[in-house]
Amino acid sequence: MATMTTRHFMYTAGALLVGLTLAACGKQEPAASGASAPSAATPPAKVYVVGTDAAYAPFESQNEKGELVGFDIDVVKAVAKKAGFEVKFINTPWEGIFNSVAQGDRDLLVSSITITPERQQTMDFSAPYFDAQQLIAVKKDSSISKFTDLKALKVGVQNGTTGDEVITKLQGKDSANVKRYESTPLALKELEGGGVDAVVADNGVVINYVNNNPDAKFKTVSDTSFAPEHYGIVVKKGNTALLEKINTGLAGIKADGSYEQIYAKYFGTVPKAAAGAASAPAPAASN
Ligand code: ARG
Repeated sequence: MATMTTRHFMYTAGALLVGLTLAACGKQEPAASGASAPSAATPPAKVYVVGTDAAYAPFESQNEKGELVGFDIDVVKAVAKKAGFEVKFINTPWEGIFNSVAQGDRDLLVSSITITPERQQTMDFSAPYFDAQQLIAVKKDSSISKFTDLKALKVGVQNGTTGDEVITKLQGKDSANVKRYESTPLALKELEGGGVDAVVADNGVVINYVNNNPDAKFKTVSDTSFAPEHYGIVVKKGNTALLEKINTGLAGIKADGSYEQIYAKYFGTVPKAAAGAASAPAPAASN
């Protein structure tokens, strides 16, 4: 009798566990009809899912342990802590990254994403948190000295980035000389192998790559014609609730010095007063 009872109990407990597991899994799915049964247990705190294309050091990359690390990751972690929400990062290929937030698979994106008027039509951006500009990478022995030198040359870019936009504008949209890659490191590898004559990409990433890959024998070429760019954190169009939390957190970390600390950790200097320290007081002169 006792055995029966125990066995029965265990069976029931097992079934309950399966039920709970299924219920937990079900939460990941988008609500089908709005008729989902209310859960008896208190729901766990909402964890916002962050998409990032982690092939973009020093902003987002994967370390040896497979963890996502970088300036953007630290900024979003600090923002979340400041604004009181939780985040979980998922490596998300650049191609389709905007779709992932539009479809609700990701709640926000941090991926060195330049705020552009065109993108603002389909997604919402936080206040700017980083200033950037395009930069050209070429082989050390190259005679390329300015952007317009690339007019008729083979140029590698990451598909769908602002680097892609500027070179497509220079060469014309039907140019066969714009070589589009899935990631920026792939474009740079191609430059190393001589498959393209130059790569156009965000300055921070190009500088980081050139410094860390001396064997590639690259140098950088800057050009004043490149427009200033500003990175923003992306949410789904209309998600003002989350956007407000992010902006509150951003203002908070700029004001309390933690943004500056993160900046110095990756770039060794304090940010210039533009996007970086918009609401932070100018650093006091030492002594
Ligand atoms: N800033 C550029 C853009 O928004 C490139 C960003 C690429 N980011 C990345 N993680 N791959 O188009």
